[in-house]
Amino acid sequence: MKPRLAILISGKGTNMASIVDNCRSGLLNAEVAFVASDKPDAEGLLFAVQKKIATHILPNPERDWEGAEKHLEGLLEEYSAGWVVLAGFMRILSPRFVAPRMGRIVNIHPSLLPSFPGRDSIRAAYEKGVKVTGVTVHLVDEEVDHGEILAQEPVRIHPGDTLEMLEDRIHRVEHVLYTRTLIDLLSSRR
Ligand code: GAR
Repeated sequence: MKPRLAILISGKGTNMASIVDNCRSGLLNAEVAFVASDKPDAEGLLFAVQKKIATHILPNPERDWEGAEKHLEGLLEEYSAGWVVLAGFMRILSPRFVAPRMGRIVNIHPSLLPSFPGRDSIRAAYEKGVKVTGVTVHLVDEEVDHGEILAQEPVRIHPGDTLEMLEDRIHRVEHVLYTRTLIDLLSSRR
């Protein structure tokens, strides 16, 4: 059976979309079991629906995060999804959720970790004036934007770049790097 992925999003979902397309084309030998979001209005949900992928909204994430995570655990079981792929998911998973799945939760982050963790990392690097930033794909552990680094790719910031130009360059790198890293990870740890 192909590895089954649960993809978690909070926003646009362009990384999720590229993973879905790469699974469908056969480049990535995996199946997207479902897409879940903590935000009912996450734009990416529409793409998943159009692709006829099951979508779920995590209930009450603000008021009861533990309950939302338990709901997610139920979905993972229901869909036999053994891998959790974070794609712009802006919530912190609890140690209770992470510990039993260590090594099977993957995240992408738009900086060269450990530099610029957290939110708005592309802007933070841009405003700091660094000349090179990049993209990191890593396994998730109990800390934020932390865990074994699986892959990194540098992205240069050129003189005269606007923030939008940099964001666009980083996202293009992300869409290639995430799938490439998942191909390696899924084939090595089945
Ligand atoms: C991506 O740039 C991803 O690296 C970042 O959110 C964006 C989501 O874009 N994730 C983080 O910052 C995690 N700390 P997308 O919704 O279009 O895939």
